[in-house]
Amino acid sequence: MQFQLNEEQLMIQKAARDFAQNECLPGVIERDEKQQFPEAQVLKLAELGFMGMMTAPEYGGAGMDSISYVLAMEEISKIDASVSVCMSVNNSLVCWGLEKYGSEEQKQQYLTPLAQGRKEGSLYLGAFLLSEPEAGSDATSQHTIAEDKGDHYVLNGTKNWITNGKTASIYLVMAQTDVSKGSKGINTFIVEKNTAGITVGAKENKLGIRGSDTHSVMFQDVKVPKQNRIGDDGFGFSFAMKTLAGGRIGIAAQALGIASGAYERAVDYAKQRKAFGKEIAHHQIIQFKLADMATRIEAARLLCLRAAWEKDNGNDYTLSSSMAKVYASETAMWVTTEAVQIHGGYGYVKEYHVERLMRDAKITQIYEGTSEVQRIVIGRGILK
Ligand code: CAA
Repeated sequence: MQFQLNEEQLMIQKAARDFAQNECLPGVIERDEKQQFPEAQVLKLAELGFMGMMTAPEYGGAGMDSISYVLAMEEISKIDASVSVCMSVNNSLVCWGLEKYGSEEQKQQYLTPLAQGRKEGSLYLGAFLLSEPEAGSDATSQHTIAEDKGDHYVLNGTKNWITNGKTASIYLVMAQTDVSKGSKGINTFIVEKNTAGITVGAKENKLGIRGSDTHSVMFQDVKVPKQNRIGDDGFGFSFAMKTLAGGRIGIAAQALGIASGAYERAVDYAKQRKAFGKEIAHHQIIQFKLADMATRIEAARLLCLRAAWEKDNGNDYTLSSSMAKVYASETAMWVTTEAVQIHGGYGYVKEYHVERLMRDAKITQIYEGTSEVQRIVIGRGILK
């Protein structure tokens, strides 16, 4: 066992850190306030090869490992989680799923521009459409129907809380093709957003990650060619679960980044703010808080890297990704709340960033499987 990053991983970590400082930090408060999608930042990420980090170069990706992906997600999330969620969904839910389970034709047509994050100079992103108004944690309870019409399917239904919902060019849509078969009657389809019958709802006005593009998407008699189904008939739910296991590593790393961003700001503030005649960092009550924050962050980091390592080594990572996600997201919520507390009144205003990080932290306990769902996955995994 060794705890050292290799040279390439260190280089990627530095590139992500520089990108976050130089491209994401300027304007992050205003984008949050105006709920503005960080288009320029995501385009730049695409140029750096970060929108298809783990995708093979033959399909337009950067061919990096999952450890590098965790490192980059952490650095970018320290500054702007609205940018990193867009990156996470495109990388691990869309590109990874297509590369692993898509047909060669599907990869040639869709994966290459998705992994590059752009086509003809414009953004080209993917979205993952599983959640519905009445199917969140209970994901097998799909109400979106795909009717088999021979050479094509016809989709009807509504999807909710879709990251990249408006910006994406390509949707991966889960839908029920045979209600009597339950989870085995679900399929996943590649759907081009500009297909007739698709309507995108208004942007959700959210507590956190306010720049990210979250919409509902409605399908009314949408024709999808049969060749756009991913895998064999009935593979759609399994596709969603397997893909989400990797997605959860990305969100765990996002939570880790939010926590470490808030922690770094709390340390800086504690070293310069004086109270009762000395810097507050020299009061034991603050030192103990910082010590607990640092320890929990390090534990979260090790869980994230462990899950990524399992994935890179071809091991089953379902359990380790759920453990990383539940621990890192709960750490993010706790650490950001403490960071606000250390800042006192300053922590409660926007200029000091920590209130935004606290708002951003909350979603990591909800999306890509709530903390409760992660505990279901872990519980079943350890008891099987
Ligand atoms: N890999 C492969 N197959 C799996 C699997 C996995 N990891 N997990 C479950 N399955 C299979 C099961 O083996 C089962 O098949 P069998 O019937 O042959 O045994 C089938 O799928 C159904 O599984 P369960 O019986 O375990 O299903 P369940 O109804 O009890 O639900 C659950 C399980 C874990 C709660 C699941 O529904 C779940 O993960 N829910 C949360 C969904 C989620 O994460 N949504 C996030 C939306 S995407 C998002 O947020 C993206 C974004 O924009 C940021």
